[in-house]
Amino acid sequence: MNPQAALSVSQVTCEYREELLGTDQFVPRFGWKLSSKERGIKQQAYQLVVSDLPDFSLYLWDTGRIESDQSIHIEYTGPALQSRTRYYYRVKVWEQQGNCSEWSSTGWWETAFLDSGEWQAKWIMPKQLPAVQQAQEWPDSPPVSLLRTTFQLKENIVSARVYATAAGLYDLHLNGERVGEELLAPGWTSYHHRHQYQTYDVTRYLQAGGNGIGIQAADGWYSGRISWEKGYRSAYGEHRAVLLELHVQYADGSEEVVVTDTTWKSSEGPIRYTSIYDGEIYDARLEQAGWSKYDYDDSGWEDVSRSDLPYHPLIAQENWPVKVTETIHPVSVLHTPRGETVLDMGQNMVGRIRMNMNLDAGTKITLDHAEVLDREGNFYTGNLRSAKQLVVYTARGNGEDNYAPAFTFMGFRYVRIVGLEELDDSVLLKGFTGEVMHSDMVQTGQFDCSDERVNRLQHNIVWGQRGNFVDIPTDCPQRDERLGWTGDAQVFIRTAAFNYQVAPFFAKWLRDLAADQREDGSVPFTIPNILKWNKDTSAAWGDAAVICPWTQYQCYGDIRLLSEQYDSMKAWVNYIRGEGEYEYLWNTGHHFGDWLALDAKENSYVGATPLDLIATSFYAYSVDLVRNAAVVLGRSEDVKEYSDLLYQVRRAYLNEFVTPAGRLAAPMQTAHVLALMFGLVEGDTRRRTASELNRMVVQNGYHLTTGFVGTPYLCIVLSENGYHETAVKLLLQDSYPSWLYSVTQGATTIWEHWDGIKPDGSFWSDDMNSYNHYAYGAIGDWMYRYLAGLDMEDSDIAYKKIRIHPRFAAGQLKHASAKLDSPYGRIESSWQEDKGLRTVRIQIPVNAEAKIILEGADHAHLLESGHPVEDVKGIIEITSTAEAVELRAGSGEYVFSYKYS
Ligand code: BGC
Repeated sequence: MNPQAALSVSQVTCEYREELLGTDQFVPRFGWKLSSKERGIKQQAYQLVVSDLPDFSLYLWDTGRIESDQSIHIEYTGPALQSRTRYYYRVKVWEQQGNCSEWSSTGWWETAFLDSGEWQAKWIMPKQLPAVQQAQEWPDSPPVSLLRTTFQLKENIVSARVYATAAGLYDLHLNGERVGEELLAPGWTSYHHRHQYQTYDVTRYLQAGGNGIGIQAADGWYSGRISWEKGYRSAYGEHRAVLLELHVQYADGSEEVVVTDTTWKSSEGPIRYTSIYDGEIYDARLEQAGWSKYDYDDSGWEDVSRSDLPYHPLIAQENWPVKVTETIHPVSVLHTPRGETVLDMGQNMVGRIRMNMNLDAGTKITLDHAEVLDREGNFYTGNLRSAKQLVVYTARGNGEDNYAPAFTFMGFRYVRIVGLEELDDSVLLKGFTGEVMHSDMVQTGQFDCSDERVNRLQHNIVWGQRGNFVDIPTDCPQRDERLGWTGDAQVFIRTAAFNYQVAPFFAKWLRDLAADQREDGSVPFTIPNILKWNKDTSAAWGDAAVICPWTQYQCYGDIRLLSEQYDSMKAWVNYIRGEGEYEYLWNTGHHFGDWLALDAKENSYVGATPLDLIATSFYAYSVDLVRNAAVVLGRSEDVKEYSDLLYQVRRAYLNEFVTPAGRLAAPMQTAHVLALMFGLVEGDTRRRTASELNRMVVQNGYHLTTGFVGTPYLCIVLSENGYHETAVKLLLQDSYPSWLYSVTQGATTIWEHWDGIKPDGSFWSDDMNSYNHYAYGAIGDWMYRYLAGLDMEDSDIAYKKIRIHPRFAAGQLKHASAKLDSPYGRIESSWQEDKGLRTVRIQIPVNAEAKIILEGADHAHLLESGHPVEDVKGIIEITSTAEAVELRAGSGEYVFSYKYS
């Protein structure tokens, strides 16, 4: 084998991460990506070794050579793991001709507490400070607490870890420095069942001699204001509390442990008020400089008390932490007709503003955050409802004011500054930056095409995802919701899994869904569930319990998650079964229906598609997916039960919603979309349903009328059923209503409403009008899989059997391109049409293969990098149909070209 072509391991991961600090997984899973310049390479065998020594001088676990092509989700089956221990691993791989790679680079993971009974620290509470009555219009909330202690360390520290969490939100400080980049820790979970703690490597912050450690603690989701209900707070508990354990290792093997207990002290900090929705009030004059240092004088501080919070819900961090992932600079300072001074960030972003100024002592400035300006160009916050997203800062004087709020986030493009009007625009532009905050997921997908408006749409979809993946999948990031609405999440999950690596993100959220699912199997509207007064559920929302784990299984091959969620999936379907007037039809209860569809009655949010039709359609879909899961998990009795149930539900559907002549009785686009998407109609009825859907769209001047439920699948069913050209026209439509309408209005994120801003510049409404709602961004899935043609075979998972099937755009686009960093590596499908010549560029990762469908090609004239395809290495099989040439190809890069007419 020539060295150029050598097989190598390009990435190793443990539980989806190259480095994983602080997990409580007993059986972590490994994966790797391979690369080779040769085509058609597959893994024949692997050897994986694990050691607790970085030089691998002694193996803890050695698989030996295993004959297998498995390169994702390989479970650790070595000796039992110890808590608080770092393990190293590496892998070596053989390909089918017997050539072997070098050892991979070394990956590592480190355990935290494998048993929550190991905690030595005590939950402690700061003295419950009375709520400070801010200006009249602010809700009550006690100021943020500071908690601290000091300790002595010996020489020769080799490593140190902090394990910490809060009932509330917290950040960690050591010897005067803020530790780590995590924001909004410990994240939002169903706290009574699952409460995350974080692990920090604090070795570099410590010193021999005296040290100080501190925690700043706020109410956050735990006990702060949450939901739009007036006065609602303390969803999980009244009192904020913290828990921390520091373990210091010395060179001689000895250990020192520092824990939270009643020797700690507490005080108030400069943050006088903070809440997720409202923003922060910060008085820099009340800063306690050096409060987390050893020699800080805390004689005036209060004693803390024990909290009786339990240990058993404690789990190690599961999701990517929220971090600042990008800094953006304002593009201009606007002076509005009303005389307001407003920064334009150029992008509707989620996060916070950092200020870097030198202000006189006592200067008070306020920063209001808004997504849009009104028709006249004035600052507009009407759509925030009761959320303030306001920052009030009072300067200390004498030095730099470098400040950003710590325990909140805002959704905004515009920032109104009050208090600095006399400053030049150039000073303001330099003094403020935007810090974009979200779960720190790895970007995996890219899409682009020859139409810049569509590229802007893709940009908006990605920014919608960034802004709403703030530890949980939220509906919106600005108004008084920001909740894990289940329907929105299931609608967008497949698109999300193209743009970013979302496996740990959704795994965490789905475990919370299972934890908050009610006894009867019904799923609350939002997860984590804080709307506890609400006992309802809804079709297409509760179905997230089934659709999301199944989609994760498809995209990442995560069979463990599927098996963990299986009971929850079944419980949802069984709940539905008991709900309808008879067991195969869901025609009762509350439903959001085709939410925000354009065929809704005046003043209603609920589209015209009948609720029982939507409910029964999703019932069938969820039963189908549970049956699929049962097949995967080998539950043969369930396979039978859910196959029978599916048959009955489909029959009931036909009986109720399709006329004897084979016409869908409900004349709405969404009704037709669901029938086609969920396989509810076959044969002539299917053809008729598709043609009728096409007719409705065409007669509506290539405009959609669909809402949350129908929109995600609209283009998919058109492309699948012979109307791809109509789907392309829908995508490229830019008059209202359409995906590109908001683009023509200057949107930089996806809007909640097709007409969030009307052509005359007026707003749809105040009360339900977010400019950052990802649901309609679900078109991204179709753009990747159909337009660019990057997909996998129906029976496949994790893109091992890739399907590349570009669907050209009947001359309406010149090129489209998609790339995905899949579990096996980079996949590319890009096509171009130029003067009668089609060029299709493809990349298939090692250990995967692809079926390639080239429409309009004829075998005799098809070339790959200039050669006739039968001579080409890597191509395994060639078949021709009247419409296309189909090829089977192994890994590698290919450039196909052919003439078309
Ligand atoms: C949210 C939606 C959600 C809906 C339920 C709204 O307030 O913003 O996105 O799915 O309620 O219909």
